[in-house]
Amino acid sequence: MHRSHTCGDLNQEKKGINVTLSGWVQKTRDLGGMTFVDLRDRYGITQLVFNMDTDADLCAQARKLGREFVIKISGDVVERESKNPNNPTGDIEIDVKTLDVLNASKTPPFTIEDNTDGGDDLRMQYRYLDLRRNTVQQNIMLRHRVGIETRKYLDSIGFIDVETPYLIKSTPEGARDFIVPSRMNPGQFYALPQSPQTFKQLLMVSGFDRYYQIVKCFRDEDLRADRQPEFTQIDCEMAFVEQEDILNTFEGMVRHLFKVVLDVDIEDFPRMDYDEAMRLYGSDKPDTRFGMEFVDMAEVSQGKGFGVFDSAESVLGVVVPGAAEYTRKQLDKLTEWVKRPQIGAKGLVYCKMNEDGTTKSSVDKFFDEADRSAWAKKAGAEKGDLILILSGDLDKTRKQLGELRLHMGSELGLRDPKVFKPLWVMDFPLLEWDEDTERYHAMHHPFTSPKPDQLALIDTDPGKVKANAYDMVINGVEIGGGSIRIHDRELQSRMFDLLGFAPEEAQAQFGFLMDAFQYGAPPHGGLALGFDRLCSMFGGSESIRDFIAFPKNNSGRDIMIDAPSPIDNEQYDELFLKSTYVPS
Ligand code: AMO
Repeated sequence: MHRSHTCGDLNQEKKGINVTLSGWVQKTRDLGGMTFVDLRDRYGITQLVFNMDTDADLCAQARKLGREFVIKISGDVVERESKNPNNPTGDIEIDVKTLDVLNASKTPPFTIEDNTDGGDDLRMQYRYLDLRRNTVQQNIMLRHRVGIETRKYLDSIGFIDVETPYLIKSTPEGARDFIVPSRMNPGQFYALPQSPQTFKQLLMVSGFDRYYQIVKCFRDEDLRADRQPEFTQIDCEMAFVEQEDILNTFEGMVRHLFKVVLDVDIEDFPRMDYDEAMRLYGSDKPDTRFGMEFVDMAEVSQGKGFGVFDSAESVLGVVVPGAAEYTRKQLDKLTEWVKRPQIGAKGLVYCKMNEDGTTKSSVDKFFDEADRSAWAKKAGAEKGDLILILSGDLDKTRKQLGELRLHMGSELGLRDPKVFKPLWVMDFPLLEWDEDTERYHAMHHPFTSPKPDQLALIDTDPGKVKANAYDMVINGVEIGGGSIRIHDRELQSRMFDLLGFAPEEAQAQFGFLMDAFQYGAPPHGGLALGFDRLCSMFGGSESIRDFIAFPKNNSGRDIMIDAPSPIDNEQYDELFLKSTYVPS
């Protein structure tokens, strides 16, 4: 027997019993006549004590144990003299009688502790050791729990888990596909799915009615803290539903998950139009944990001789509460911040609402006290507040001010990771114009239906058409998105036409779906939630990597197994591929 208990099981109630434990040596301490060993497994840490007086040989063996040795011991549970209230097993220790070294360990390249001394790269290279750390284990266990609770909830309301293939034909979701050559079909390729979108729609045609899958998706896109090349979705689809049914179903699921995983009650789950989100926050995923909504300052700031504002398409401001105290140095730093290429603003105008009722701006040369009071009135600023203003092209200014708003929210500590503010962003545009390719792209994906009352606009002004599409946003993170789909062959074909597909091209790529629509496709819709993002939100982290057992780094590499890597010439031949890559 390797163990009678785990390293997290024992407490005063078990005093006096004989136990066998197995685990890893966290650390050893020699205190003259006594040697203490902290034994760790995934359940906790238990202190072992070896006494020189009672068994000198055993104690000598214990002294030789190195960090991360795997050992098995047996001994008696005894009450500790100096208890550790921070550890659930801190009232007891094991008076060890036998010790077996099950496996020795090289000294690990970093400490297996919450505050490890290992840098990112080293921990990624030895991810199996990083995964031994308690904090990382907790993250992976949290992920397990979110997965289990998701399955239980969806099962309880009649959703069926159906697996869809990983070797498919590309689905256009906006990113690049990962391509897999087919040996048996020379010169032909599979693509790994960016999502199971078309398959879940086909399952609706097949009559499954309510489908879900916790499924890997693959997208060859630039990586960030919240993006991995392979990631997981909670992918769902429902038939015979309207948008309202979908929103209610998944609002219910997310409320349930917050309750069972974090014991958090989500009070409001408000909805906001895309247009409104852009107008008030300059973002389609606003962080609504704090206010600082945009104010259109054009009316009170143009026509006063300040060329920058006068020539601008838009002048937008935000009121930063209580920030009139900002020093010149802090304001200069903010100005530098917005001028960085990542933000790209040309400059920043500020106006302080001093406590004594006076105002002071960075453009006093053009705007007198009366003008500045008009700003304050328009913006709703009070004594002690700071108004920050950006101007220029509407879309760019919104984006820049949106970033500045988030930055100020963080600086003022208004983005508490323990507060959760969900939001449905609704009524996205169906299409967006791409300047580079000079054509429309589907904003969500080509299977999204236009709002029925806007069908007429498709022919006259397609860019204005709104879609039956929605995103679930929590704390400024896009957690999920979905839509009511097109289920009519004609409309789907018209959509491909709008997106610039020639009819033969659309038939070649999506004929299977359009054909299926001819055999009794029910009205249907759905959504997918980013599972990694949801888990990292529950865990209070912005990085999804911490919640993936074996993630890729920012260059898309797994540095532990060293992938991607070159293949043999034989493999090239077998796959009928020819390498044209010449290493520089
Ligand atoms: P969408 O492309 O919006 O929709 O993806 C759904 C959710 O998946 C998450 N996500 C990602 N998470 C980590 N890394 C990535 N690279 C990544 N890309 C996306 C986000 C996002 O909201 N088929 C549609 C869904 C539908 O219409 O039903 C789809 O995939 O949280």
